[in-house]
Amino acid sequence: MAEADREYVLGSSDNEIIRLGFQHEVWTEATTDLWENAGITYAHRVADLGCGPGFATLELARVVGNAGHVSAVDASDKFVKLLKERVESLRIENIDVSKGDVTSLKLEADSYDFAFSRWLYCFLKEPERAAEEAHNILRPGGRLVILDYLNYLAAGVFPGSKKLNSVFQAYMKEVNKFYGSYNVGNELPAILEGLGFEIVSLTPINRIARPGEPVWQWVEMFNEISVPKLTRKRIWSAKQRKDFEAEWEKAKEEPGTFFFSPPMIGIVAEKVEQG
Ligand SMILES: C[S@@+](CC[C@H](N)C(=O)[O-])C[C@H]1O[C@@H](n2cnc3c(N)ncnc32)[C@H](O)[C@@H]1O
Repeated sequence: MAEADREYVLGSSDNEIIRLGFQHEVWTEATTDLWENAGITYAHRVADLGCGPGFATLELARVVGNAGHVSAVDASDKFVKLLKERVESLRIENIDVSKGDVTSLKLEADSYDFAFSRWLYCFLKEPERAAEEAHNILRPGGRLVILDYLNYLAAGVFPGSKKLNSVFQAYMKEVNKFYGSYNVGNELPAILEGLGFEIVSLTPINRIARPGEPVWQWVEMFNEISVPKLTRKRIWSAKQRKDFEAEWEKAKEEPGTFFFSPPMIGIVAEKVEQG
């Protein structure tokens, strides 16, 4: 079965679109820092692979300007339709949007300066196939830029409790059931070198937040959507959910509570010029 034939584990509900928008706001600075570090700037051709509803795509289009271009690809009909409507209504001329599977791209080979994917590889059964496709569409010297999770279970609420932090194990289990992995960043540099990319930089990305701060709100929003799903998918019982929700509310009132976000990795890897 092609990767894109299974609906993305977090779905494409209106709540998920709102969550992705807020998530983009919270992680915009980390994302644009990574682009800057990779060298994405005016007049470049960029592919945004696994673009979702396109929050980063729109930002990328501003960075590359009208002399540049962004090709956005996603497997979700709903996200692709939304982004197309947005591009049309805002009369944006430097974005094209298409529905597609990142493991079998229909974009022109050897023609992009950059390929960018944020929170995509963790949902793929065969991340190496997506990296291979990205390699194919990049021109020699072009760069693949990835932001994704690694070492996921380092995340937590502290001082917290075992019960509270078992939510991260449950999320890991959910994504594993779907064949992805929130530890994908541990493997990606080796995969990319194996495909003939040269690693330019590896950057750790994470945050600490106190209750009420944006990064705290981000995880809370994720919980609101995902915890009910854990019970629907029978990863958690109704009692586990109830206990967790009570613990979460309690933790917010306790002195010194903070959230350590799931660690992410920013990767910049270059397609080596032949001989
Ligand atoms: C967490 S969302 C991230 C969206 C966007 N990159 C962002 O940063 O907001 C993951 C996206 O990957 C897409 N996706 C998952 N598997 C895919 C595949 N095999 N081909 C294309 N898109 C895929 C999903 O449809 C979803 O839009």
